[in-house]
Amino acid sequence: MNTSPAFVFARMPELHFGAGQLAQLPSLLAHSAQQRQRILLITGSASFVGSAHYEKLTLALTAAGIDYFQQAVAGEPSPELVDQTAERYRAEAIDWVVAIGGGSAMDAGKAISAMLPQQGSVTAYLEGMETAKHDGRKTPFVAVPTSSGTGSEATKNAVLSRIGASGFKASLRHDNFIPDVALIDPELMLSCPQGVTAACGLDALTQLIEAYVSSKASPLTDALALSGLQHFSAGFDRALADGDRDIDARGELAYAAFLSGVTLANAGLGVVHGFAGPLGAYFPIPHGVACGTLLGEATRATIDALFAAPEQNRLALEKYARVGALLAGQTSGALRDDCAQLVATLAALIERVAMPRLSRYGITRDDLPKILDKANNKNSPVMLSREQMAAILEARL
Ligand SMILES: [Fe+2]
Repeated sequence: MNTSPAFVFARMPELHFGAGQLAQLPSLLAHSAQQRQRILLITGSASFVGSAHYEKLTLALTAAGIDYFQQAVAGEPSPELVDQTAERYRAEAIDWVVAIGGGSAMDAGKAISAMLPQQGSVTAYLEGMETAKHDGRKTPFVAVPTSSGTGSEATKNAVLSRIGASGFKASLRHDNFIPDVALIDPELMLSCPQGVTAACGLDALTQLIEAYVSSKASPLTDALALSGLQHFSAGFDRALADGDRDIDARGELAYAAFLSGVTLANAGLGVVHGFAGPLGAYFPIPHGVACGTLLGEATRATIDALFAAPEQNRLALEKYARVGALLAGQTSGALRDDCAQLVATLAALIERVAMPRLSRYGITRDDLPKILDKANNKNSPVMLSREQMAAILEARL
């Protein structure tokens, strides 16, 4: 193993993982506190607030002497939502922000926790449009995912969006924004609908593959990405088939999603996420669908481009071959065949879960130039031309 290149691995959240772990939340928050704690609960969908889990949690918080405010977040968080929520609770001396929900709720909570101790608008700190540098001060933050996808419970960034013709997706990012605690309870995922499970699962899969083959990968992220891919493989089909009962399958996917967050935070992402930004900014396409629908074609295009110089790109091709063998559960022993096996396995998987095509969201051939203008191919093992990038989108229109 080549461990000589320098690399940095950021901190990890304190992790509490396992079925039933939500019951530990009050004691985690009250732990070592001298005074009564005040928390701001950021929840996503109405389904969690209407669930028995929420009722049990709020009763337990009250019993533990914890005061809570609750704010629901619908859809992907906008800068306005973060500003308004931070403004509303800034004077309340909040001790913890706790986000319980999917990627949107966790990103909203992460950004709100980062803005409670600051003044002004979060837009000042958003990547690509920043006018100031965030100093990293935040209110302590706990992330509790209810779906298995973005890995936001392990990452240092919150994605904020404005969707429309002049829309954008931009990150609020700082090493300090890695959640202080990630509490992952697969029981909370049993009610996640099948379509969301599929799209979020493919987001996690994309993140694991992109981080694994990234030009910024390290031996440490490689080990975690491979482990994540094994757990994804063990849980994905079972979670789709019997997701409201198979707690082990939910656990496999939840752990894979967590590792996808750890690896993306430390190795970066590739061309699929380079497309997902502008696609999600201009069109109402969920992030997981954008990734899931493009993963197969993007992998095919990248492998084809790498085979233009197979000796020079041997390391990346060996990685793709290894993923192909892992996901298919068998190896041919030949580099080219295992890479082809990966392309075929991904195509079959995307077909099997009926990932929607881009046209479902109103995207046409005429839209491709403006998507390509904003897309990027950062961290990929090979640079793709604009024509090669366009072909990926065209194949999924
Ligand atoms: Fe993603």
